[in-house]
Amino acid sequence: MATFSTHSGVLPNPSIFLISVFVASLVTVGANFIRDAEITWGEGRAKIIEGGRGLTLSLDQYSGSGFQSKNEYILGRFDMQLKLVPGNSAGTVTTFFLSSQGEGHDEIDFEFLGNSSGEPYTVHTNVYAQGKGNKEQQFHLWFDPSAAFHTYSIVWNPQRIIFLVDNIPLRVFHNHESIGIPFPKSQAMRVHCSLWNADDWATQGGRVKTDWTKAPFIASYRDLNINACFPGSCGTDSFNAEAWQTQELDAKGRNRLRWVQQKHMVYSYCSDIQRFPQGIPAECKRSRF
Ligand SMILES: *[C@@H]1O[C@H](CO)[C@@H](O)[C@H](O)[C@H]1NC(C)=O
Repeated sequence: MATFSTHSGVLPNPSIFLISVFVASLVTVGANFIRDAEITWGEGRAKIIEGGRGLTLSLDQYSGSGFQSKNEYILGRFDMQLKLVPGNSAGTVTTFFLSSQGEGHDEIDFEFLGNSSGEPYTVHTNVYAQGKGNKEQQFHLWFDPSAAFHTYSIVWNPQRIIFLVDNIPLRVFHNHESIGIPFPKSQAMRVHCSLWNADDWATQGGRVKTDWTKAPFIASYRDLNINACFPGSCGTDSFNAEAWQTQELDAKGRNRLRWVQQKHMVYSYCSDIQRFPQGIPAECKRSRF
């Protein structure tokens, strides 16, 4: 995937694009895990491979593991290739998410809940703003996410958050600040990834436990691509130069989103009437697309 950063809008000549990659300070392109990530827990269970192109996390009875980006970002597009724990992954949770730190934090989540062999993973998405989440949507994928690498992307701009799988939109969370719904946009976030045991709730509501005879469980990450602003350095002249900054769905994207939401969505907080007896959240009453 080619991603370029420019300070000035229209630069038709590809060689100028290449030069601009080196002068731009706002954007990281093609992250290298050695340079751009730090292992946060799990001791030797997180391993950087292929000269920094890949990273594997493992989970055993004693611990899971995780890493985070060294830098923090405000708004951006984050693409990660991920190959999930194969076989019996019940009880395991693999994550790729953005999060700020401290009280009232913001967070944008992709979480992959494992399952018994042959049963589908659940892709869990959520958005937190100012410490409040409760905006879950879950999906079963149309492929086996443990058989090969697939690209999972978070597009985060001031108007919306788009969750994509292999460039197909799973979900769009719109900015509804105009009707009083908080939207994450002013706190810098790091990229976080982890593999951990959650067999008290993850698989079929906690009924299926992790089979430790299959440990260690391994999830593989590769080709993290970050195209984002650093705190304080998203000036106006660069701000419209990047596609993600105004990215939205076109007609084809809306069709695909409709297909995903009708055929592959297994839970949406917007349809969970029992959970919101006083009425479903206001943003749900707006267009889903
Ligand atoms: C596991 O498989 C069951 C049965 O197909 C399904 O209902 C469930 O959503 C799947 N995912 C998880 C995380 O339990």
